[in-house]
Amino acid sequence: MNGKVVVLTGGTSGIGWVAAERLARAGARLVLVARDLARGETALAKLRELTPGVAHRIHYGDLSRIAEMKRLSAEIGADEPRVDVLVNNAGALFNSRHVTEDGLERTFALNHIAYFALTHGLRARLEAAAPARVVNVASDAHRGAQLDFRDLQSATGYRGFTVYGRSKLCNVLYTRELAGRWAGSGITANSLHPGFVATRFGDESGGLLSYGVRFAKLFAISPERGADTIVYLASSDEVASITGGYFYKNRLVTPSPEAQDDDDARRLWEETARLIGLEPRADMR
Ligand SMILES: NC(=O)c1ccc[n+]([C@@H]2O[C@H](COP(=O)([O-])OP(=O)(O)OC[C@H]3O[C@@H](n4cnc5c(N)ncnc54)[C@H](OP(=O)(O)O)[C@@H]3O)[C@@H](O)[C@H]2O)c1
Repeated sequence: MNGKVVVLTGGTSGIGWVAAERLARAGARLVLVARDLARGETALAKLRELTPGVAHRIHYGDLSRIAEMKRLSAEIGADEPRVDVLVNNAGALFNSRHVTEDGLERTFALNHIAYFALTHGLRARLEAAAPARVVNVASDAHRGAQLDFRDLQSATGYRGFTVYGRSKLCNVLYTRELAGRWAGSGITANSLHPGFVATRFGDESGGLLSYGVRFAKLFAISPERGADTIVYLASSDEVASITGGYFYKNRLVTPSPEAQDDDDARRLWEETARLIGLEPRADMR
């Protein structure tokens, strides 16, 4: 990874932090995207201490708001002429429904729309670095989830884990569609399940859900193990030419039947592009 530029969201905590640390040790220069100043500065200071002389950077913003996703992409794009790897990792689970200022359900906005918006915002920088990689952190929570295109904002019958599972289904579908649409660009896109990991995940979800998740995490794996597949997809030569895959424990695995539905993938893409105001003809096929 010597000299490679890795943009990584959610690097202040959990598997994102461990992946950032490992990729920095492997020689990469990290560009973190974070929302919390104190946690962000701590992470940046640790990276700088780990690899003195490497100009790791950080950008701040709330990835659940479309204007922030766009501002962050523009700021990173202005600072970085090339991006070798983009790791979309920031995500969360929420017990109760909240609608963002864009009129989007918060889980859908943060866990799915931000992946899409940041990837598209950095497309030219990824192309400039080709061969480049997009690594999307999904989850096996996508299994059993189904998309309802009449209610992508989960206005009816909100249940935190169900809505989270749907957002992770979006990650796998989006990655497949991205791989297809950007085939031949020199940019690969893969998604992954990190395992069930003892991080801060779910702690702030609220209500009984956060207690349930805290208890379940007694049986979870460490963030070090959880980060393995992120680091593998971001850096291993073994996957240099693989695109559109879903990985677990550094292996290609088959996602749910719903996650292999090409019509849903295309429809989700079109709907998301519309929601963020992406140029209608961009990436058409
Ligand atoms: N833990 C698991 O068992 C598990 C299993 C499957 C998939 N995953 C996925 O793994 C990814 C990372 O989760 P984790 O387990 O490492 O959880 P975590 O410890 O809670 O880390 C989440 C990261 O996302 C950032 N983040 C959250 N909301 C944000 C926002 N609005 N804007 C910008 N950044 C935001 C957090 O920043 P702050 O430091 O400011 O909070 C933090 O750095 C998520 O996509 C999650 O869905 C986790």
